Parts: sequence; structure tokens; C-alpha cells
Amino acid sequence: MEFDEGELRAYYADAPDDISLSDIDLTNIPRHVSMIMDGNGRWAEERGLARHQGHIAGVDSLREAVTSSVRLGFDVLSAYAFSTENWRRPQEEVDLLMHLFATTLLKELPLFYQENVRLRFLGDITELPEQTREVFEEGLEKTAAHTGMVFALAVNYGSRAELARATRLVAQDVVAGRMNADEVDERSIEERLYTSGLPDPDLLVRTSGELRLSNYLLWQLAYTEFYVTSKHWPDFSRWDMLRAIRAYQGRNRRFGGVVES
Ligand code: IPE
Ligand code: IPE
Ligand code: MG
Repeated sequence: MEFDEGELRAYYADAPDDISLSDIDLTNIPRHVSMIMDGNGRWAEERGLARHQGHIAGVDSLREAVTSSVRLGFDVLSAYAFSTENWRRPQEEVDLLMHLFATTLLKELPLFYQENVRLRFLGDITELPEQTREVFEEGLEKTAAHTGMVFALAVNYGSRAELARATRLVAQDVVAGRMNADEVDERSIEERLYTSGLPDPDLLVRTSGELRLSNYLLWQLAYTEFYVTSKHWPDFSRWDMLRAIRAYQGRNRRFGGVVES
């Protein structure tokens, strides 16, 4: 991954009291950071605003998260934007979100060019409203040749649906004689997930304090470190990204092995 330390230092100048770039070991940056962007509604309600104002404010946080992730040199940033269960929300909110995804992506394409970011989607985007799907497909096409960070946005994503789909794809290959049932292993599943080809997340960030996964990346998070902050997503800044990395760097990852002294 291209990495410009001067640019990074300039981006992280004017540090608050409790955190600065010097708290971070730049040789131990997570490859893949994933985020559950929660709390837009609560952020808005606390300010006496409508929920959709929270979603609109959340776009600014996401832009900043993409920029800070590129500067810090992640290989992959992924973010949960809309779950398979979020269709249960009032139609008005669903419509607003779908519209916001499309307009934001179009507007932010220049950022992906400037930062050499390649876009990916996790989830079944064929089920999205036509306008949103078309913009998403355009984004995929236009960033396909980019060689920098991968930005994977989970939209209409549910981990159980993803695992059912992977199982279905394996079963189809077995029935068609392309593979034997006793050859099915972890790789066979992994290759058929939406995240295929991406490293598993090293760090999962969830905003707004809930201690649950809400059907997100159940397979991929097997050995991921979790960082939960009480801040709502629209308040999550480049400094919170550093705080999350600092916490990550204080962990002892064992992957089921022995404690390192
Ligand atoms: C996260 O914020 C954004 C989406 C799920 C689309 P919420 O809308 O879930 O906000 P809260 O959790 O109700 O505060
Ligand atoms: C998780 O947030 C989904 C996204 C952030 C897109 P939710 O707000 O839908 O999760 P729950 O309902 O609190 O578990
Ligand atoms: Mg929520």
C-alpha cells in the first residue's frame, strides 16, 4: 500500500489532549478495519432533529473515515451501511437512505479517484432500487482499475443470508459434479462470501455502544479485535480512528495459541 508519512503527519496535526499520531505504532497498522456505523438516529434525536438528519451527518464521518484510512495505510476499510433487517424500518427512512447512498456515491467518486480507492459492495445489490443499483454499478466500474485501498460498503448485507448463499453455491457445484462433497472445506465457503479475496478484519469498530454484531460478518470476525465507543457515528472523527488503533495495538492477539510474554 502506498504510504506517505509526511501527508499523514500533516493530516494528524493539531491533536487533542488525549491522543496523537505519536501514540500509534506505524509499523503495526491493521490491514483491514471494519465499522458498524451505528447511532445516527440517536445523534439526531439528542439534537431535536429528524432521524434523517443523522444519516446525512453520518456521510461526513464516513468521508473522513475513508480519508484517514487511506492516510494510515489500511489495505481495506469496510463499513456496515444497511442490513438485510433494516428493510423493516419505516418506508420513508428506507427511501431516504437509498437515495442518500446513490447521491453520496456519485458525489464522492472524485475522492475515490484522488485517493486511488477501489470500491466493493458486500451484500446483494441486485435487490436495491434501480437508481441506487445503477450508481453502485457505475462506482464499481469506474474504480475497478484503482490499486489503492479497497473500500467495501455493506448494503443489503446480512451475514446469515451471506452464509446461506455460500452454502447454496457450494451445493450447486456439488450437484453439477464440479466438486465432491468431502472436498468442502473452509476455503470453499470463504471463496463464496461477499468478502472473497479480502483479508479478515483485524479490528471491528462499533459506534453508539451496543455490544452486539447485528448480523455483521459472523464468519469473518472469528479472530477480530473489537473496539466499541459510546460516540454516535456522526461524531466519529479521524481522532477516534486513532483511538481505535491505539486500543487494537494494546491487545494480545493469540488466534488460539499461547500467550506471548
Ligand atoms: C445507523 O444508525 C445507520 C443505519 C443503520 C442505516 P441508526 O439509524 O441505526 O441509528 P440509531 O441506532 O437508531 O441511533
Ligand atoms: C446495525 O445497526 C446495522 C448498520 C449499522 C447498518 P442497527 O441499528 O440496524 O442494529 P440494531 O438493530 O441496533 O441491532
Ligand atoms: Mg442503530
